[in-house]
Amino acid sequence: MRVDFGCKAWLFPEPVLMIGTYDECGTPNLMNAAWGGMYDYELIQISLSEHKTTANLRLKKAFTLSFATKKTLVESDYFGIESGNKVNKIERTGFHAFKAPNVDAPMFSEYPLTMECTVERFTEEGNLIGRIVNISADESILTDGKIDPMKLEALVFDPFNHKYLVAKEAVGTAFKDGMKFKK
Ligand SMILES: Cc1cc2nc3c(=O)[nH]c(=O)nc-3n(C[C@H](O)[C@H](O)[C@H](O)COP(=O)(O)O)c2cc1C
Repeated sequence: MRVDFGCKAWLFPEPVLMIGTYDECGTPNLMNAAWGGMYDYELIQISLSEHKTTANLRLKKAFTLSFATKKTLVESDYFGIESGNKVNKIERTGFHAFKAPNVDAPMFSEYPLTMECTVERFTEEGNLIGRIVNISADESILTDGKIDPMKLEALVFDPFNHKYLVAKEAVGTAFKDGMKFKK
């Protein structure tokens, strides 16, 4: 017996992406975005409504994309429920912004894994297509030089229940475990 839920925006798992931008005064801002993912090899896409972030993206043509973590859960959620048009969210939370080395956008010490991106274009539907210029990680989340999800503790958005989960358990090896059935 299966239960129907109709048409919902229920891709799962969804990442919890933090978009970092500067406004015209160079004030850093962050917003939370769960409707995003890879668009092509070097391109990411995010479904965006009109926000301070959207205006900043049009202005600066650059942004950073950090992965929200268990440690930053409360602040990361806050960045998704208040607008930078009303308040300086970075000052309010005490987050530490610094300029990204490769794009005109802020990075944040509190987020250990960040993509630096340029705005490639907006689609007709208003979705952001961004080009990944560089990815950098704090040493604290590396094991043997590789990004370690156990240390990163990235948040996953659960759209069914509006909860944040943590991506932490390795249960298999991609491109390998299925070999069992390959002749
Ligand atoms: C879990 C979560 C996911 C969100 N995902 C998106 C999204 O994918 N696209 C979007 O336009 N807004 C999304 N939002 C809403 C924005 O983050 C929110 O409107 C924010 O206040 C915009 O900030 P800004 O005006 O400072 O740019 C999300 C909010 C939360 C809490």
